[in-house]
Amino acid sequence: MNLILLGAPGAGKGTQAEVICEHLNIPAISTGNIIREALKNGTELGLKAKSFMDSGALVPDEVVIDIIKERLAKDDCKNGFILDGFPRTVPQAEALDAMGIQIDKVIDIEVADEKIMQRLSGRRVCQDCGASYHVDYKPSKAEGTCDKCGGKTVQRKDDHPDTIKDRLHVYHEQTEPLKDYYEKTGKLTIVEGQEEVADTSALTLKALEA
Ligand code: AP5
Repeated sequence: MNLILLGAPGAGKGTQAEVICEHLNIPAISTGNIIREALKNGTELGLKAKSFMDSGALVPDEVVIDIIKERLAKDDCKNGFILDGFPRTVPQAEALDAMGIQIDKVIDIEVADEKIMQRLSGRRVCQDCGASYHVDYKPSKAEGTCDKCGGKTVQRKDDHPDTIKDRLHVYHEQTEPLKDYYEKTGKLTIVEGQEEVADTSALTLKALEA
């Protein structure tokens, strides 16, 4: 199954991508994670993306489209994949269509902006393996330490309140129109994000069967 997860920053795309990945055993591809990894390794892509990402802006379409083309050509995508954070603009969605890639389902996770502020400001991520936690909703067992790899958990630079506001603004302007884009294809399902991660996960898994 080829899936797209849509939603505002912090709506829970990454969390639900992990749930689907375990359920269907297909890779979850996060453009955000790929760019952050490039940044950590100081590659040319990382350097190009840094200023956009840190300020909450989108990285230019052509850069992200190249990343996705390369990633989807890998063997592990042959039986399906989950796109988390791509496409994020109409030109990116058009580029995906132009690659001849058939999308089976688009799941849009809806969460109100105020809730997102709360979620993202409490998020902590492992600086080694990227695992995601939340100080209230999903704390790591030992504060500041990743349950999975023992790495240090930190706050993302773009999870500071002013930058979250900017990211939400960018989302409403540039990414939200994708709901219409995919509504027209008949492949869009909306999942209302719940207070508890497990409740959202149950709705996501149900949406896969619809
Ligand atoms: P990216 O990493 O994709 O960030 P994002 O879309 O802003 O989304 P997040 O990862 O912040 O949130 P999420 O929806 O995955 O939520 P999560 O599951 O973590 O992109 C970062 C940057 O990279 C962009 O700003 C841009 O610069 C660049 N970029 C990436 N892709 C691009 C593209 N295609 N084009 C151009 N630029 C691109 O959940 C958030 C928190 O909430 C967690 O702490 C979690 O534990 C908690 N939580 C989740 N679900 C629940 C629940 N049900 N109840 C309570 N808490 C919950």
